[in-house]
Amino acid sequence: MARILAEPPARSPLKAVSGDGGLPVVGHTLEYIRDPLTLFRSRWDKYGDVSWLTMAGQRWITVLGPDACQEVLQNKDKAFVNSDGWSLLIGPFFHGGLMLLDSDEHLRHRRIMQQAFTRERLVRSVDSLNPVVASGLDGWHAGDAVQVYPALKALTLGVATSVFMGGAEDSSDAEIDVVNASFVACVQAATSIVRYRLPGTRWKRGLDGRKVLDDFFRRYLPARRARETDDLFSVLCHIESDTGQRFSDDEVVDHMIFLLMAAHDTSTITLSTMMQYLGQHPQWREKCRAESLALGTSSATLDQLDELVSVDLVMKECLRLVSPTPVVARRAVKDTEVQGKFVPAGTYASVAPHFTHHMAQYWPDPEKFDPDRFCADRREDKVHRYAWEPFGGGVHKCIGMFFAGAEIKTIMHHLLLRFDWEVDPRYVAPLNFTSLPFPEDGQPVKLRLR
Ligand code: HEM
Repeated sequence: MARILAEPPARSPLKAVSGDGGLPVVGHTLEYIRDPLTLFRSRWDKYGDVSWLTMAGQRWITVLGPDACQEVLQNKDKAFVNSDGWSLLIGPFFHGGLMLLDSDEHLRHRRIMQQAFTRERLVRSVDSLNPVVASGLDGWHAGDAVQVYPALKALTLGVATSVFMGGAEDSSDAEIDVVNASFVACVQAATSIVRYRLPGTRWKRGLDGRKVLDDFFRRYLPARRARETDDLFSVLCHIESDTGQRFSDDEVVDHMIFLLMAAHDTSTITLSTMMQYLGQHPQWREKCRAESLALGTSSATLDQLDELVSVDLVMKECLRLVSPTPVVARRAVKDTEVQGKFVPAGTYASVAPHFTHHMAQYWPDPEKFDPDRFCADRREDKVHRYAWEPFGGGVHKCIGMFFAGAEIKTIMHHLLLRFDWEVDPRYVAPLNFTSLPFPEDGQPVKLRLR
């Protein structure tokens, strides 16, 4: 039954936010995990762009549509913070990450970290990506139902271990497996329903995982401080902002753990979505492959990746169809308003780019795979500044978006040159949204060596 979140102040022109809590204890959490789009559509139809519900044990406003998303992400009156919002979900596992910082502290860290994401460093990262991707793909085999999601996840983890961490010199494979499992545990703990350290719970596995990661990075820190190399871990140890500020040891460890998480599942789901749609649309597969072949090399440089125009269109369309970060979290630290509705201090906000990406008002035939909607003579994404927002917006906009694009295109370029693949045109990925979206069936494709 609809109720209001809070009465607006007396004589205020603001309206109240309506909504409902959902089921006892779990609220709407399970509906979200099963299918956020259906949940958001029903909120939009019932309550409009801003409504409230209960998830993860708290009341959240759900912020839908590009105008409302823009208002919260631009955060002009500084009423919303990231730290309190994201901390509720991932704080115990990813504290200290750039996305969980605010105000001056965020600005200080972002200014230093920006130095790790310059075009010059990106050029070098792409050069080191190529051999890692090539050797990762050596382990791929043809088959009629190859589960590409876990295979891509292993590939992007390999990238993380070498390009981000610069390898793990004295670690055994078994230890790397434990580290990888610890990441997964941290990410999955974010949407736990039981949020106490009880034996056997996802929450406890997440906390134990964080400890493993802390110890692991601390062990390698002295070597990275001692010598500057091209990997992100070493770069974070050595970069300085324009004013000479640097990260402390604790800050490097916190940022590394967060960055690996931020970079990993997001790129993996984008790649698996691209493999799905390319497998279902042979004409796009051939178009992309023709551009890859035209480069005349499997080890493309950053400048050459820019020539893969069709891969870029497909990537953008896949980021729209399956947003790797379906929602971003905020919390109001003072009374404020969103789209003329009163939001009291303390309210959590879930901003939903995923919903915007499927709105028929902005995207004609929104469920159709149509990469040309991003081409120069259509640019459907330009209809609203926040119509296409897979990397967020405002001061927290993804710092790794160009790295992500380069990694995804490098992997796709190698895949197109080595393999051909098909996916049944009727296939719909059974996505699970327990943490970031992933296909529960591993996304089988018919894979052939070229
Ligand atoms: C397809 C891939 C990716 C997607 C869709 C994505 C999406 C996002 C989104 C939506 C945000 C904003 C969160 C917010 O406003 O609260 C964000 C922030 C961030 N992302 Fe990404 N990301 C991707 C890849 C990466 C990669 C590869 C890295 C690093 C190498 C990275 C590092 C970060 C960091 C550090 C932040 C926090 C920025 C800040 O708070 O100032 N991301 N990302």
